[in-house]
Amino acid sequence: MTLGSHLTPLARSHIEQADVVFAGLSDGAVEMWLQRMHPDVRSLQPYYAEGKSRMQTYRQWVELMMTEVRAGKRVCGVFYGHPGIFAWSPHKAIEVARAEGFDAHMEPGISAEDCLYADLGIDPGRFGCQHFEASQLLFYERKIDPTGYLVLWQVGLVGDLSLKRFSTGAAYRQVLVDLLSQDYPLDHEVIIYRAATLPIQRPEIRRIALRELPAAELTTEHTVVLPPAAPLKLNLAMRERLAALDRETTMA
Ligand SMILES: C[S@@+](CC[C@H](N)C(=O)[O-])C[C@H]1O[C@@H](n2cnc3c(N)ncnc32)[C@H](O)[C@@H]1O
Repeated sequence: MTLGSHLTPLARSHIEQADVVFAGLSDGAVEMWLQRMHPDVRSLQPYYAEGKSRMQTYRQWVELMMTEVRAGKRVCGVFYGHPGIFAWSPHKAIEVARAEGFDAHMEPGISAEDCLYADLGIDPGRFGCQHFEASQLLFYERKIDPTGYLVLWQVGLVGDLSLKRFSTGAAYRQVLVDLLSQDYPLDHEVIIYRAATLPIQRPEIRRIALRELPAAELTTEHTVVLPPAAPLKLNLAMRERLAALDRETTMA
């Protein structure tokens, strides 16, 4: 996630030992840094295009990597954050490679999620934490639990059914706010978060009210967090059952 500091020694060793490296990174500077580690780094960024389905781009990425694998090369795909979090191609490439009899492995990385817990001082174990891709929350009927944290990814392009746009905008975010207002008051705190991708940057943390989300400045690199809006509720039936079990086990 952050240039220089978040690459694990094992990930670095996979990069250095590969014959070809494909790069799906967030930042041109990070890509240049990667190029210093390997003589054959091929950027996946040029395959994105406005008006072109992201699914088409992601399938192309898998094919590009698999073409080299099939040619007998040792291939390393480098994706920012954790390669398996909100990322379709790395999972798919591994699935296809294994189905064709090749060895394939995913090395975990430090995700925006990990940075978020550290920078915002959130422990997901305290109240629980739900993660949703923001559009999925609109496209499908999901159950939000406002007694835990809610983390929304890709809010910058919320509601994009076409998969062809890189941002949607205020009207689309208003639909998201309308949905969220079923579980949260409109003055509930919303945290707009961006982890540092360069060591000279500070994490960006903006706190606004839910009603302000449509007008807020938001890019594809921001993640949105809603802290709990209600206290945890005791499950009396389960407590009763556990107490009965305790009585049984201490008597036995
Ligand atoms: C396609 S996903 C990739 C996530 C990445 N694999 C990871 O592990 O962080 C893109 C989404 O990740 C989140 N994201 C990406 N860069 C971020 C950053 N610098 N800070 C916070 N969230 C970020 C945003 O929600 C964005 O819409």
